[in-house]
Amino acid sequence: MSDSFSLTTNIREKLQRISESGAFRKLLTVDERTGSRIKMGGRWYVNFAGNDYLGLAAAPETARALNEGIRLYGAGTGASAVVTGHTRAHSELEELLCDITGKEAVILFNTGFAANQTLIKAGINLKANLLLDRLVHASMQDAVFSAPEFQRFRHNDMVHAEKILEKHPGSLIFTEGVFSMDGDLSDLKKLTELKKRYNSYLILDDAHGFGVLGERGCGTAEHLGISGTEIDVFMGTLSKACGLSGAFIAADRDFIDYLINTGREYIYSTAAPSFIAHALIKTIKYITGNEGRELRHHLHAMTELFRKRFSELDINASLLNSETSIQPVIIGANEELMSVSGKITDKGFLCGAIRPPTVPQGTARLRITVTAAHNDTDIINLTDTLKDIIG
Ligand SMILES: Cc1ncc(COP(=O)(O)O)c(C=O)c1O
Repeated sequence: MSDSFSLTTNIREKLQRISESGAFRKLLTVDERTGSRIKMGGRWYVNFAGNDYLGLAAAPETARALNEGIRLYGAGTGASAVVTGHTRAHSELEELLCDITGKEAVILFNTGFAANQTLIKAGINLKANLLLDRLVHASMQDAVFSAPEFQRFRHNDMVHAEKILEKHPGSLIFTEGVFSMDGDLSDLKKLTELKKRYNSYLILDDAHGFGVLGERGCGTAEHLGISGTEIDVFMGTLSKACGLSGAFIAADRDFIDYLINTGREYIYSTAAPSFIAHALIKTIKYITGNEGRELRHHLHAMTELFRKRFSELDINASLLNSETSIQPVIIGANEELMSVSGKITDKGFLCGAIRPPTVPQGTARLRITVTAAHNDTDIINLTDTLKDIIG
């Protein structure tokens, strides 16, 4: 380290730059929550700023399942899954997820971020060519930068993807079912054609589709009428529609065994608590059953109502073309977004305020997430408020 190096000065300069670009993040602290309401600083807000799409995170069913799990298994697992952290609850959850995805084997992770890091690093270690949609999640982008070489195709641009595959057959193609910041769907039909034509493999991160899309909530592929067998590797999070935490990767037995034996995020991390795995079994059965179907129908109706009102009120901002719960309203500049977002919060609504680098420069946006816990009045009040504030 040179004599002139000052950590404090460097940090201050970096923070100053972040502040000047209007991108400084401050944490909000939630005191209490229900399905659609959040209490902060003594005030309740209608929450349109999360990924609890089915409203299950604070549901009594979820609390009951967690309590039962604690009674059965206690609190922490106390060890990595490869030591003594893998319990009967994990094993049953894995079996359930195999049934749902139609895959031979499943591996569980503490977070979707860790699951994606493991996936990408496996691809690198196996010396595969990696091909990613440009807009895939940071957890994949971060890991891929350690690859000696990789390719990215323009978002959902299948012509571009094919051009790259012509040069790199046998690639691992990474995409998302529902893109997290735009809410649009991947062109899975075309990607399954391409992966067959170019002897490649399709790896789907369905963090925002699992539980939300498809008649049984199995995700984007089910919604688009694509058989699970067309997807080589399926990754889903358990932290969004499932309302709890964790993630899974489903694939053939050898692939999963390879991850169990080499995935550093898996091997060198304490296994997720068994009581969460137990609660997830109950929640996933609920989601894939009739109750889940009803929640999805209501969610769909709320999303349609939001889009209809946004258009009827002729709100002066661009609403991206999304049929999912994620409804992005593009504001543009960071400062403008923060001003709009502050006014919305003052009126009692919370909407995600997403700025670069999470989204491209000049496309700072409100990321409004409609959930099954919202009702008509919530949507009507939110859209009226957006009209008052944005014009
Ligand atoms: C597409 C996508 N994949 C992975 C993740 C990471 O999942 P987790 O929040 O469980 O770490 C996210 C998180 O928001 C995501 O949006």
